[in-house]
Amino acid sequence: MLKGKKILIGVTGSIAAFKIPVLVRLLKKEGAEVRLILTDTAKDFVTPLTLSTLSEHPVENVFYNSEDGSWHSHIELGNWADVYLVAPVTATTLGKMANGIADNLLTATYLAAKCPVFFAPAMDLDMFRHPTTKINIEKLVSYGNYLIEPKEGELASGLIGAGRMEEPEEIVKILDGFFQKKKDFKGKKVLITAGPTFENIDPVRFIGNYSSGKMGYALAEEFADRGANVDLVSGPVSIHMINQRVSLTNVISAQEMYDEVTGRFEKSDITIMAAAVADYTPEGTGKEKIKKKEKGLTLKLIPTKDILKKLGQSKRKNQLLVGFALETENELENARTKLKNKNLDLIVLNSLKDKGAGFSHDTNKITILDSSGKLESFGLKSKREVARDIVNKILSLSDKSN
Ligand code: CTP
Repeated sequence: MLKGKKILIGVTGSIAAFKIPVLVRLLKKEGAEVRLILTDTAKDFVTPLTLSTLSEHPVENVFYNSEDGSWHSHIELGNWADVYLVAPVTATTLGKMANGIADNLLTATYLAAKCPVFFAPAMDLDMFRHPTTKINIEKLVSYGNYLIEPKEGELASGLIGAGRMEEPEEIVKILDGFFQKKKDFKGKKVLITAGPTFENIDPVRFIGNYSSGKMGYALAEEFADRGANVDLVSGPVSIHMINQRVSLTNVISAQEMYDEVTGRFEKSDITIMAAAVADYTPEGTGKEKIKKKEKGLTLKLIPTKDILKKLGQSKRKNQLLVGFALETENELENARTKLKNKNLDLIVLNSLKDKGAGFSHDTNKITILDSSGKLESFGLKSKREVARDIVNKILSLSDKSN
């Protein structure tokens, strides 16, 4: 799928630049045409000679040739490329890209590029964790650029954590997947829920859970990328979603989620309940703040409505319904019971016994069970990759039902 594709790589000054010659070789082996832009500091980590030899093109670095005064148009490179990959991207270049600072050929090309842009951060653990970096990454993703998430591992500083640039083999797979990606859900309406619900006790307190919403949001992005029109009903989370194909509705409580979801269900082709909906809510919310008393406090909780069960009862033959099950024991048995009781087509099981799975993590490890009793287990992956596996599974079912 990469055959004949024009791939422009922007390299910045990170130790991870040593991976770029391997990446260029792999891309060339797949039949892609590769050209490169290096920042000045990148040249300290990987030589232009190595990269121009491997790519069979001169490496670009400046706006103009100081010897003959000829102009190197950044617009031309951005127009030439089918995809622009900035890898490795340092915290500095992330900041420039996120804030429109076009003071070198690499960032000027980013601003001028009309093609999809991928970026693969590489930096030290603490720099990666810094709120500035996080905001810059969020901004770039919200502008429609594709983040190639760094992996956890040993870093050049000797620290261990997130910040290692993705391996060249994986980057090739990601680019290949991008070009292969068919708009296989074009025209489909997909309803997804995400995040926790908060059940108010009084005006300042609530009962909630640790759901981050990352899995539901990753599913929304994946479906949107594959052509679906997505309705995302989300509990309170700290993720920003800006995607033209995703219509976001924010809710707080289980009752609000029930109202929003049941109102949209009839028109949806595929519905996925990834939200961690509260099973109980306080009976009657106090209008005033509950004051401290010596005796202690007993709260009466009453059950919330089971949204998924309700949807399962009114599901039509041509609608697909998918639930999630987060279990801590008797995982398969519990998931099978939920699949049957809620009349689902699929249930996605994650066990809290698996390290890196479940709430808050950027990764997940799932098993998908279908209504015929079949199950498929997957390894630990980023939530975006897990979303891809779930969406592929749904595609195989919708193919059968068509
Ligand atoms: N769910 C729902 N409405 C609720 C509770 C759960 O729609 N009030 C959905 C969740 O979004 C999830 C599935 O049901 O897709 C399973 O949720 P889970 O909390 O694992 O199961 P419960 O049915 O609540 O059972 P239990 O908490 O006893 O495991």
